[in-house]
Amino acid sequence: MKKHTADGDVYILAIESSCDETAAAVVKNGRQVLSNVISSQIALHTLYGGVVPEIASRKHIEKINQVIESALKEADMTLEEITAIAVTYGPGLVGALLVGVAEAKALAYAAGKPLVGVHHIEGHVSANFIENEDLEPPFVCLIVSGGHTHLVIVKDYGEFEIIGRTRDDAAGEAFDKVARAVGLGYPGGPKVDKAAQGGNKHAIEFPRAKVGDNPYDFSFSGLKSAVLNYINHAKMTGEEIVVPDLAASFQNAVVEVLVTRTVLAAKEYGYDKVAIAGGVASNTALREGMKEACQKAGLKFYYPSPVYCTDNAAMIGVAAYYEYIGGSRAGWDLNAVPNLKLGER
Ligand code: KG4
Ligand code: ZN
Repeated sequence: MKKHTADGDVYILAIESSCDETAAAVVKNGRQVLSNVISSQIALHTLYGGVVPEIASRKHIEKINQVIESALKEADMTLEEITAIAVTYGPGLVGALLVGVAEAKALAYAAGKPLVGVHHIEGHVSANFIENEDLEPPFVCLIVSGGHTHLVIVKDYGEFEIIGRTRDDAAGEAFDKVARAVGLGYPGGPKVDKAAQGGNKHAIEFPRAKVGDNPYDFSFSGLKSAVLNYINHAKMTGEEIVVPDLAASFQNAVVEVLVTRTVLAAKEYGYDKVAIAGGVASNTALREGMKEACQKAGLKFYYPSPVYCTDNAAMIGVAAYYEYIGGSRAGWDLNAVPNLKLGER
């Protein structure tokens, strides 16, 4: 069993730059967010219909010091008062990650503070601890982001057993691709979510993929193809595409699969707590669907506020706290690991 409390107060300055958000936060004793500053590059990447890695790196280097300065100021703290510096070192875009890692190393070295490297996905899961005081491992967590779809058992802080994963596209990726195909643009998830609110989720019957031998694995490429075929067919025959209906029907197909498999996992593995994490966890239909299904199944359902679902540094600070008190320290040779796997160090 790992250590779960510290002797004195622990203040973590956390940095996150793995994709298109430059973010810094100060987190006290693991669960109290003193500041959470996010500089989003969405407007910039919208021009290109998606994240352009090199542009993301350049923007991170431009913004990072201002974001950190604001995070310290908002928390009313100086660098000297911080206990440790934490940074996301993977997975993500290598050039983007390197900006955060280099910055964190320089700050930690100059201020003589310990450095903690954080796994981005562990950060997403940890977002659930911010507003749910009573939540402690073990629990089942569905992680749905732009690059990941994992069903895991959080056995302890920072300890995961992956029981299901996507075989092809991530859930967020499917949202982004479908949004582009129907002309909703980037970022796809929030736009599909919004469009779906005025639509009929039973208007179009899209497939729910079953994946071979593992009942907890996912596949979204067949669903994505079905949506693209529907659009092409409608265009060829001159049928009108009702975007809200299409968005709601697609979203419903994704949500149904995510909810059913997560609840099944909780029941089969014998856990009574379920959490969701990652950008797609801010999806209205997923939150509602999961809430309803958990209630029916007698499971306690936890979810972060939308601002803690999408990329932010507060979640990195929370994960870093548990890593820190568990004794984890990064060396001065810490590097970005773009394809870092969950559970790897
Ligand atoms: O976790 P995140 O901010 O970044 C990654 O680590 O990937 O997730 C971004 C993903 C994108 O694919 C975005 O379209 C999706 O999360 N997303 C949503 C919603 N908000 C963000 N998907 C569905 N509904 C939303 N409301
Ligand atoms: Zn993320």
